[in-house]
Amino acid sequence: MALADLARKGLFLFDPETAHGLSIAALKSGLVPVCPQKTDPRLRQTVAGLEFFNPLGMAAGYDKNAEVPEALLRLGFGFAEIGTVTPKPQSGNPKPRIFRLAGDEAVINRLGFNNEGHAAALERLKSCARDALIGVNIGANKDSEDRVADYVAGIRTFYDVARYFTANISSPNTPGLRDLQARESLAALLSAVLAARAEQAAQSGRRVPVFLKIAPDLAEEGLDDIAEVSLAHDLDGLIVSNTTLSRDGLSDRTHANEAGGLSGKPLFARSTAVLAKMRKRVGEALPIIGVGGVNSAETAAEKIRAGADLVQLYSCMVYAGPGLPASIVKGLSALCDRERLASIRDIRGTRTGYWAEKNL
Ligand SMILES: Cc1cc2nc3c(=O)[nH]c(=O)nc-3n(C[C@H](O)[C@H](O)[C@H](O)COP(=O)(O)O)c2cc1C
Repeated sequence: MALADLARKGLFLFDPETAHGLSIAALKSGLVPVCPQKTDPRLRQTVAGLEFFNPLGMAAGYDKNAEVPEALLRLGFGFAEIGTVTPKPQSGNPKPRIFRLAGDEAVINRLGFNNEGHAAALERLKSCARDALIGVNIGANKDSEDRVADYVAGIRTFYDVARYFTANISSPNTPGLRDLQARESLAALLSAVLAARAEQAAQSGRRVPVFLKIAPDLAEEGLDDIAEVSLAHDLDGLIVSNTTLSRDGLSDRTHANEAGGLSGKPLFARSTAVLAKMRKRVGEALPIIGVGGVNSAETAAEKIRAGADLVQLYSCMVYAGPGLPASIVKGLSALCDRERLASIRDIRGTRTGYWAEKNL
């Protein structure tokens, strides 16, 4: 058994949150095997003006405090998203608050934006290489009296160190946060956030893209509203999706009744359908990052076929281990060989119609 496999099995002896902390410590220590970033030109992507070595990123929530973004890139990811960070540090919900559903390759979490706050993450990001493709996922404190102001503070604080921003309004674990997805609230949020970005861009001469991360638990009308408001503002892209409140598709009922957001394999179908429905609505105007249940090169490719420009993952790495990003990237190159593609982008949108027709 490979060392990484052994380490992964060992981590399962610990509760999920302790295991997560140990995996961060392992990445910090450099104990995890490194995958040199091979640059298959067919996997290179330019999205929102940024150049990605490959289309696979680490999703937000793994490295909430920006402790190991460069180590994540060394595992083979083309980009890494840190956060969600909130202005003030906060401890999140009482433990236990992460649950493994191993039979389903799924996770339920109700962490509630536990993080060390803006200042701590900023200090760490200042020491990262300027060209490392690190995105900063911003949110609002639970007790905030002005949530929009918290997002604006995120833009101002991290402007010099972020290659892109994600405004996360879709965590189910901060009461009321998802209400920011409603038409009027979203318009107010985007106006304020994008005005702050415009100010910073004018001062620095550098325009940092801003993406919006949405929930998979939206009905068709909700998707219409988000698409319209997004297109009416100077937004750079959508991330589809966050975790779901639904418990559909679970065979392992052990923790099914725990409150929180479900992620991993059972989220794949719903998040991919929502992604395709958004692609239909926004056309070519906005890049989309597809996330939810990616566990292989084939599922990553299917997100791209459904209309994604880039793909992210988190939960399935808990089960597959740190070799997963490198194996997916290799698998995408193999797919390019097999299908004689000049670029992985050639499959983008080829199955948007199929996925967009699914009932939510
Ligand atoms: C333990 C855990 C913590 C997460 N924390 C965040 C977070 O802080 N911010 C965020 O935008 N998404 C967060 N997510 C959601 C992921 O970024 C991702 O959108 C979701 O899990 C679906 O992808 P996956 O099925 O590959 O995990 C979290 C997910 C998990 C499992």
